[in-house]
Amino acid sequence: MSRPASRPVSRPASRPASRIVHVNGEYVPEDEAKVSVFDRGFLMADAVYEVTSVLGGRLIDFPGHAARLARSLAELDMESPVTEAELLAIHRELVRLNGIDEGLVYLQISRGNPGDRDFAFPDPAAVRGTVVLFTQSKPGLADNPAAKAGIRVISIPDIRWGRRDIKTVQLLYPSMGKMMAKRAGADDAWFTEKGGVVTEGTSNNAWIVTGGRIVTRQLSDDILHGITRAAVLRLAREAQMAVEERPFTVAEAKAADEAFITSASAFVLPVVEIDGAPVGAGRPGPVATRLREIYLEESRRAAI
Ligand code: PDD
Repeated sequence: MSRPASRPVSRPASRPASRIVHVNGEYVPEDEAKVSVFDRGFLMADAVYEVTSVLGGRLIDFPGHAARLARSLAELDMESPVTEAELLAIHRELVRLNGIDEGLVYLQISRGNPGDRDFAFPDPAAVRGTVVLFTQSKPGLADNPAAKAGIRVISIPDIRWGRRDIKTVQLLYPSMGKMMAKRAGADDAWFTEKGGVVTEGTSNNAWIVTGGRIVTRQLSDDILHGITRAAVLRLAREAQMAVEERPFTVAEAKAADEAFITSASAFVLPVVEIDGAPVGAGRPGPVATRLREIYLEESRRAAI
């Protein structure tokens, strides 16, 4: 027999030779980890996830990610097979086992394996959710050169479903958006609704700085309630910066002094070009640069 078809032919250079991953209570080498072909995460994208960053071997804003996970599960009538305390212990153990200094911990909980394909949800008393966690080592995550150069984004229509506040693994359109950006010679894409109103980035929240105010879209079902977004809002207010939570358009963003994105893996990253037009001076601005510094400093201090 030849090697299993699911095994990648070659590992990307950035990938460690072998990681220890966590599946349903067990720590196993990644090549031995197994999830059923009938798992609803695999067949129906019936799963939620979280990405928590690691700096200096410690977790950034774990309580925020755990709270959002609980909310995502509750919105989908899914029961968590693990407690928050257990999840924290698993995160820490994976960071330790894989020697992660800077990187990420990915966590996914699906509605489990009902033993067949069926649209109806299985009885939660009979079928336990599937819990998978793994680490990604990303040396230099905090010292990202993109923070000094800034990134370029394109705008594309937001054709995702209407519950973007739930962090599900339905990431096909965000993946397509990243590919559209790549083909256009850009780094990422911002989703827009009618009238060019920005919802968010493919995997981040979108911000502008205009008229002396920091602007980001208000929370609703239309966007993911970013954990980094919440932290940056809090830190900006603490630093006496004026902030406004409201929608803004691509046109307003192009005419703004600055633009930036936030996410657990990017922290705060300046956007210097939108649809080929420079934002402000076409260089990372002082507000985004300062917010990134404050965010990293505060995150490292509060990491657990
Ligand atoms: N993405 N909006 C979307 C659509 C996202 O997928 C994410 C996170 C965010 C930012 O949320 P947070 O600050 O909590 O990371 C906003 C993660 C990082 C990902 O999919 O890899």
